[in-house]
Amino acid sequence: MKEPDQKPILKYYKNIMNIKMVADGKGGKTALWVRFEQEGKDGIVEMKNGESTLVLVIGEKKEMTRRKLILLARRVVREALAKKYTELAIDFKQFHFPQLKIAVTDLAELLAVNFLMAEFSFQEFLSVPKEGFPKLKTILLVNGDIKEIRVGVVRGVIIGEEVNRSRHIATMPGGEMTPEILVRHAKASVKGLPVKVTVLDEKKMALLKMGGILAVGMGSVATSQFIILEYSGGKKSEAPVVLVGKGVTFDTGGINLKPSDYILGMNMDMSGGAAVIHALVAAARLKLKKNIVALIPAVENMASGSSYRPGDILRSMSGKTIEVLNTDAEGRIILADALHYAKRYNPALVVDVATLTGAAMGALGERASALFTKDEALELKLRHLGEESGDYVWPLPLWDEYDDEVKGTFGDVANLGKTRYGGAITAAAFLKQFVDNAYPWVHLDIAPRMTTLPDEFLSKGSAGAPVRLLIKLLETL
Ligand code: BES
Ligand code: MN
Ligand code: ZN
Repeated sequence: MKEPDQKPILKYYKNIMNIKMVADGKGGKTALWVRFEQEGKDGIVEMKNGESTLVLVIGEKKEMTRRKLILLARRVVREALAKKYTELAIDFKQFHFPQLKIAVTDLAELLAVNFLMAEFSFQEFLSVPKEGFPKLKTILLVNGDIKEIRVGVVRGVIIGEEVNRSRHIATMPGGEMTPEILVRHAKASVKGLPVKVTVLDEKKMALLKMGGILAVGMGSVATSQFIILEYSGGKKSEAPVVLVGKGVTFDTGGINLKPSDYILGMNMDMSGGAAVIHALVAAARLKLKKNIVALIPAVENMASGSSYRPGDILRSMSGKTIEVLNTDAEGRIILADALHYAKRYNPALVVDVATLTGAAMGALGERASALFTKDEALELKLRHLGEESGDYVWPLPLWDEYDDEVKGTFGDVANLGKTRYGGAITAAAFLKQFVDNAYPWVHLDIAPRMTTLPDEFLSKGSAGAPVRLLIKLLETL
């Protein structure tokens, strides 16, 4: 059909930052020490013994919150990077704020995750400067229970690395991250791990009658792919958690072409797919005793002579027909087939993750992903885990009253609401038609959290949401 992609497997992000633990005493001569002050001015203080101390003003210690602590961990790293230091030493106990009631291991994990996240930036296509990119090689954690800290750091490094790998592939330009390349990346990511990879090509998807995915991918020269990752860390009899990630490797909008202001950045429309791949990889590396499946329908939504059209009526895998009112509402169409496919696992829970609607950003801004579920306990738990992880989520309704909005005229389900209001909710109502109460379900619209914000102490590009939240959820289920 189409030429296979000849591009080499990308060299994906590898963390080479070392976090070492030292019980007491000194971190060594080359280290820059870090000290927090409640007031005064940021700066570097030279000490008599030739060492230096980076002073960071953090305000009243009793006003520290978990949210601020996450930012503080990153700020330390960003300051050191900006000042071109390669090694840092921090008294671990400085990060202890009694009111936060964080156990030592959890604190060490939280710090490690955020040190790594702050250190990452997308440099794959930049020429290397003569002196190299600023790189923080080592952080020494001094003072504290080495054993407990080590457990947290080991876990935190795994999580931080997988968050960064997710950010890396999500930030890749559209031409460098086609569905075929995403397949190769997924395979490379699970190398050496007990994870089974199955890929359905267009032929196999046709046999399964995945009419939604195939239609959306039709306009592209890149062939569509359905990626299945299976990690079996739990008992054979145990029902799996299925993660579904939107894998639109570039979203032009299709024939309903996006205006230029909205098209830039749509290389990141596979952020959901990236997140579920790397959450599963993290779970495998953490050896969680759970069965986990990741499903990623991967397509490119292109405008061409072979594109699907507004008005087309697609037969989805479920048998329900989809009336295409707008080719730019493509995410929900590919997810319809994936959510139907998930039924064969008899899942204990399905969580789908998608950069689904600009309307979610209209509702929430850019600080929280939109959370949809009918399970109130799960909603509360996810909000709580959002606070713990830093992947903040906020609920929107999944009420049956919205179902009428997505009733089609010539097809069973329309891919657009009847009014221009509540677009994130009508998108969720659309997905609900294909979940059909077959399993407990959570929908996360991560469009608001697709990219980092300037005040988050993270480099530009993908924010890596909600990898940290998914890992916490998988751990605590
Ligand atoms: N991928 C976009 C949604 C998006 C927008 C994600 C901005 C991240 C940032 C999605 O496929 C889309 O185009 N949605 C449309 C739906 C509309 C046509 C009903 C939208 O939000 O405008
Ligand atoms: Mn779109
Ligand atoms: Zn999209």
